[in-house]
Parts: sequence; structure tokens; C-alpha cells
Amino acid sequence: MTAGPWLVLGAGALGQLFAARLATTNDTGSIALLGRHGALNQVRLQETDGNWQTRTLAYPTMAPALVIVATKAFDAEQALKQAQLAPGTPLLLLQNGFSVQPRLSTHWPGPVLCAATTEAAYRQPPPATGVVHAAAGHTWLGDLAATHGALAETVAATLTRAGLAASACDDIGERLWHKLAVNAVINPLTARHRVHNGALAAPPFSAEVEELCAEIAQLMAAAQISPPTEGWRGWVSAVIEATAGNRSSMLQDVLAGRPTERDAILAPLLALADTHALAVPRLRACYHATPG
Ligand SMILES: NC(=O)c1ccc[n+]([C@@H]2O[C@H](COP(=O)([O-])OP(=O)(O)OC[C@H]3O[C@@H](n4cnc5c(N)ncnc54)[C@H](OP(=O)(O)O)[C@@H]3O)[C@@H](O)[C@H]2O)c1
Repeated sequence: MTAGPWLVLGAGALGQLFAARLATTNDTGSIALLGRHGALNQVRLQETDGNWQTRTLAYPTMAPALVIVATKAFDAEQALKQAQLAPGTPLLLLQNGFSVQPRLSTHWPGPVLCAATTEAAYRQPPPATGVVHAAAGHTWLGDLAATHGALAETVAATLTRAGLAASACDDIGERLWHKLAVNAVINPLTARHRVHNGALAAPPFSAEVEELCAEIAQLMAAAQISPPTEGWRGWVSAVIEATAGNRSSMLQDVLAGRPTERDAILAPLLALADTHALAVPRLRACYHATPG
């Protein structure tokens, strides 16, 4: 089903991490990495133990058995168009938020697996090169209609053998919303106030966290999205604590002058608010205060 070469589309932090790790196994036959300006034949990765590794990659073939889409959400569809894949090629989407996932699940003429991953990687700021695997995590994957369970199992097993712990699941939609809730609080606040995640645990920022979590809880209840076992506020607090020393991806993007994933993360919440006629002044203000 996924035998044959795999292609990673998008040679940023997560794309280079996944390609480098998959290059350590023979499971996929070969692994290629396609960036905006063409294929990369090698990547440099700093593993979580601090050691740097250089991995050699294959040249992309025209017919990969699976494509891992590792661009930012706003670039995914254009990148897929440019890659000129065979119709029906299975995809694995790594994006945060809930924007490109429902669109491609509806329109892509093949299986679309979505991932909610807690792997963390970042590109070294220039002039340095290479990607740092900042924290090992877990990747949950499945398709939104839960109809491609066997494919999800195969892909999860391959990622796990490559050292990226992964599991197939039949509730990926819920997991994506849980991750979105965390990102919708941590990303905009840390980007706006230029602080590490841990600063949100204390005044003056903890009050804003509280207000955003209350609005998110109201939206999720209206949309019948089950809360995490700790509740929305408890879940967000746990992630703030666990990632206290991290700079969020949105803060990194703002500092580097890159576009942010505001529309993938905050716009789906505003759309839920419109659907259920709920007032979410804090989330709306957050959206407008965040550069797109
Ligand atoms: N990094 C993490 O730890 C992490 C963790 C969980 C989830 N995620 C999610 O994973 C996704 C990727 O994140 P990231 O941090 O890896 O982002 P990133 O470092 O910005 O990488 C995205 C890459 O995609 C490339 N790209 C853009 N358009 C392309 C095209 N048409 N064809 C080929 N490549 C193209 C970009 O090229 P340019 O540099 O030229 O723009 C960039 O190298 C995001 O949705 C993010 O939310 C990331």
C-alpha cells in the first residue's frame, strides 16, 4: 500500500526532520525531500542527544507511494499543485490548525491522513544551516472519516521504526482540535508579547490565557468537540508548563519576519463562533492583533 519511495514536500524544520529520520530505514525503499527550489540530496540534523548527523536522500521519483506534506498550512495546496503528483497519491499532512485538512480531505482524489504531532524541530537561524530536533514527541495519525485505518497503521509503523514514535487513531479530528486549542492560546500570546511559553503561566499573561480558554471551551461545547480529560484550561496549562522554555513557532515566525499560521489556527475558531452565533471578543481581538 505504501511500498515504494516516499516524498517529503517542504524542506523546513519538520520536513527535514522526517526525511532525515526516514532515511535511516529501508522501509520505504527511498526517501526524497522536495523544497521550494527543488530536491535536496542531503540534510543535516542535530539529534536530541546533541549529535549532528548528515543523511543522504534519494532523487524524487514521479510516483511516490506516499507524500508527507511538511509546508506551512498556507503553502500546502500550492506545493501539491507544483509537485504534479499522480491522482490518488496518498498524503500525510503535518500541518497545525484545521484549515487545509478538511479542504484536502474533501477535494484530494486519494487518501488523506492528518497528523497531530508533538515532535518539535526548528531551522537554525542563518548563517548556520541544519535543523535541530528540539524534542522527541509522538505523532497521532488518521483520516478525518476514519476509513483508511490500515494505511494509517502502516504509516505509523514505518515512522516508529524510523525513530518517530507514531500511532494510528480513529479520532484524529478531535486530536487536531485539541492541538489547535493549545496553539490558539500559546502562539498568538507569545508572539504578541515576545515571551517564552512559560511566561503565560503567571500574571499578567495568565489572565489572558484564562479568558481565551473560556471562549474556546464555549465554542468546543457548541461544536460537540469533547474536551481533553484535564478540561480545556487544564490542558493548555499543562502544555505551557511542559514547554515553558520553548519559543512558539508563531513567535519564531514573527521574529524572523515570516508569515504566521494565524489563519490556520485562529480562523477555524472564528468560523465556529459564526456558525454557532457565539461572541468571542478575546479570540477575535487576538486574530486581529496577530500578523498573518
Ligand atoms: N516545526 C515543528 O516543530 C512543528 C511541530 C508540529 C507541527 N508543525 C507544523 O508543520 C508544518 C511545517 O512546519 P515547519 O516548522 O517545518 O515550517 P517551516 O520550517 O517554515 O518549513 C516549511 C517549508 O515548506 C517550504 N515550502 C513552501 N512552499 C513550498 C512549495 N511550494 N514547495 C516546496 N516547499 C515549499 C518552505 O520553503 P521556504 O522556506 O522557501 O518558505 C519551508 O522550507 C506547519 O504547519 C507547522 O504548524 C511544526
